This record gives sequence, C-alpha cells and structure tokens, in this order.
Amino acid sequence: METICFQKIEGGDGHNMGIDDAINYEDLRKLAKHRLPKIAFDFIEGGVEDEVGLDRNQQAFRDTPLVPRYMRNIDGVDKKTELFGHTYDGPFGVSPTGLIGLFRPGGDLMLAAAARNANIPFVMSGSANCTVEELGETAPEHGWFQLYAARDNTVSEDMIRRAEAVGLSTLVVTVDVPVHSNRERNTRNGFTRPLKMSLETRLDALSHPSWMMGYLRQGMPMIKNWLPYAKDGATADDVANLVTAQVTAPLTWDNIARYRDLWPRNLVIKGIMHVDDAVKAAEVGVDGIVVSNHGARQLDRSPASLEVLPGIVAAVGDRLTVMLDSGVQRGSDIVTALCLGAKFVFTGRATLYGLTAGGKPGAAKAIGILNNEVDLVMAQMGAANIAALGEEFIYKPLPRNY
Ligand code: FNR
Repeated sequence: METICFQKIEGGDGHNMGIDDAINYEDLRKLAKHRLPKIAFDFIEGGVEDEVGLDRNQQAFRDTPLVPRYMRNIDGVDKKTELFGHTYDGPFGVSPTGLIGLFRPGGDLMLAAAARNANIPFVMSGSANCTVEELGETAPEHGWFQLYAARDNTVSEDMIRRAEAVGLSTLVVTVDVPVHSNRERNTRNGFTRPLKMSLETRLDALSHPSWMMGYLRQGMPMIKNWLPYAKDGATADDVANLVTAQVTAPLTWDNIARYRDLWPRNLVIKGIMHVDDAVKAAEVGVDGIVVSNHGARQLDRSPASLEVLPGIVAAVGDRLTVMLDSGVQRGSDIVTALCLGAKFVFTGRATLYGLTAGGKPGAAKAIGILNNEVDLVMAQMGAANIAALGEEFIYKPLPRNY
C-alpha cells in the first residue's frame, strides 16, 4: 500500500513545503530528511570517512561550464534516448539502492513503477527488499537487476538464472565493493551489524511518527532476494547477516567472464573508474559500463566519475556503452555527462529522496523535476535532441592572446 507524505515542513525560504511544492533536488532532500530518523537519513546521504568524495562529485559538474549556442531555431527538445535497443523517454535512469524498504515500505516497486511510467530504466539493487520476480511483474521492460557477487558462486548464478527467467533485459554487476567501506556516520549512529542503537537514536526514531508507523508495521525490512539461500525460518536480521558476509566476495575478471557465459542479454559492469579496467571490460565482452564511484560511498579519495569519464570514453566508447552515475542532482549534471560522452546517466539519491518523501508520486516528482531541468537546459544551450549534445558545449578556456 502506498503512503504519501502530506506533512508540510518549513521550506528554505520560510514557506510550508509538501511534496507537491518541491521544485528541486534540495527540496526533496529536505523532505526526506524530515520524514526519516537520523540513522536512516544518514545512511542515504552519507559518504565515507571525511566525505570529501561527496563534494568532489558535485564540484566536478559545477566546474564544467556549458556554453550555450543561440539562434538555432529550437522549438521543443526531443530527449528520447536509445539504449540497448530500447527507446527511453529520457537520457537517465534510476541507480540501484539497497534497503529501500527502510525508507519507504514497498518502495522498491514504487520506484520501479514510477520509472516504468516515465519510460526510463530502474535498476533493482542486489540488496533490495522486493524480489526479482516481483520486479518482473511490475516493470518487465524497464526493470534491470543488479548483482552483488556472492562468495558462494551458486548463489550468484541462481540469481542470474532468476533474472533471466523473469525476462529482464539487463544484468548489472557492481564491482566496487571489495570490502564494506568505512561509513563513519553509520558507525556513530550504531547502524552496524549487529545494530547498536543508542537510547538517543531510539528516541529520535520515535519522534518521526509517519516513518515509525511503517517501521512498526513491517519491522526491519527483509532482503528478500536472499531469503531462499538462508536457513529455514530466517529472520530479516539473519538474512542481512548472510548478505553482509557474502557480498564482499573476492571478485575477478574470471567471474565476469563466467557471468558473460551465463547471461545471454545485456551485461553491464557498474563501478568502473580506471581506463584499463574499462578496456578489460570491453575485452571480456560486456555490453556496457557505469562509470561510478558508488555515490562517494566506497573510496572517499576517488576522483569524481565525471573526471574520469572523458578518458574512458576515448578508450572504449566505440566498443561498449559508457554510462555514468555519482553526484547527479540537476538536469544540467545529466546534460554535462552526456556532452562528455556518456550515453546514459543514472541517479541514486535524487530519486530515492523523492520516493522517501512521497512514495510513488514522490518518485515520479523527482523524475519529473530532472526531466524538466534537462529540457530547459538543452533548449537554453541550443541542443534540439540528445544526438546534438557533445564537446562543443563544454567550455574550454582559450589562451589569453586568442
Ligand atoms: C547506493 N548504491 C548502491 N549501488 C549498488 O550497486 N547496489 C546497491 O545496493 C546500492 N545501494 C545504495 C544505497 C544507497 C542509500 C545509496 C545512496 C546508494 C550506489 C548507487 O547505485 C549509485 O551509484 C549512487 O547513489 C550514485 O550517486 P548519487 O546519484 O546518489 O550521487
């Protein structure tokens, strides 16, 4: 059942704000923050250690000005984007995010449905709170499945088989979690395995009644895809322990080659940051890569994905589909990545904040905001369609004596 956040909060400029009033990412972030206890909100917003990566991701976009071209007779923008043989209505999709049920019970499928309705792809996380079979029913043409390789190969291979059985088009293998990263906000909040919630954390949770009602109804959400591999009668906690122990598997290119053999449709690696890894991905025959630093949640001192994008596109752009995520908050960020050679862009927190704040309508709102911003920025720049975007629009300072 969907619940909508009707509660109004004080907006940045002093007005009362509900989901309908949200006009940008920051509004959605504020609404999500208001709905969630700190322990849950910090899990979404947080980065690693000093959190310099979060700023770097955003700064990379801001440091890349877009140069508009005028008098190009632009009367409307066509954002249709072809990706792996499917024509989507926009050049971006929804990145996989785990534990969505903690922010919005049933949220995985709400986000999937919002993406389907907007004709953009939704990637279900390997630690989602719904199953790949449910995704196959809700968004058979728009749902992609993200795999966290398990230590036990038979688990990974069974999940791949299940995604194939329900007819999903695209398997995304996330490779940037060799270890669980040092997310200090989670440590301080006691959001650890096992949970170590202080009295203060519990009291804070109680002071968020609309979130608390959902939590009381469902308890800690189950990472449902993993239930078949847990012991009989496993609780949500048992399954979470299993996932924690299994997903930091030592992963090599041999695993990717094996998945390539098993998976007959589009295979994407998510988390590539080095040109040589991109080249290797092309060599083992994957169809696409997502250049991503996991939203600055793994290696804090990683470059921004936008910074490494041009080199990767130059090396492999003609051999596989290069996509990007990490730090996207505005339509202009999406357009910038496309101008620098990405074929498609994904958002994690933007759509997750929308979902958290307002359920399915909130997710739709987040997608709508980004769509609208892309339209406006492209029209302002003089780009009538996605194919028109390119390096031409990226500002490059000229020598002083030019
Ligand atoms: C993530 N991310 C992620 N990635 C993945 O491959 N599997 C996962 O289960 C998760 N889980 C997850 C949870 C939460 C709360 C967040 C915020 C992120 C990373 C995600 O797919 C994506 O790479 C980043 O979110 C992109 O950065 P932005 O758009 O959030 O800045």
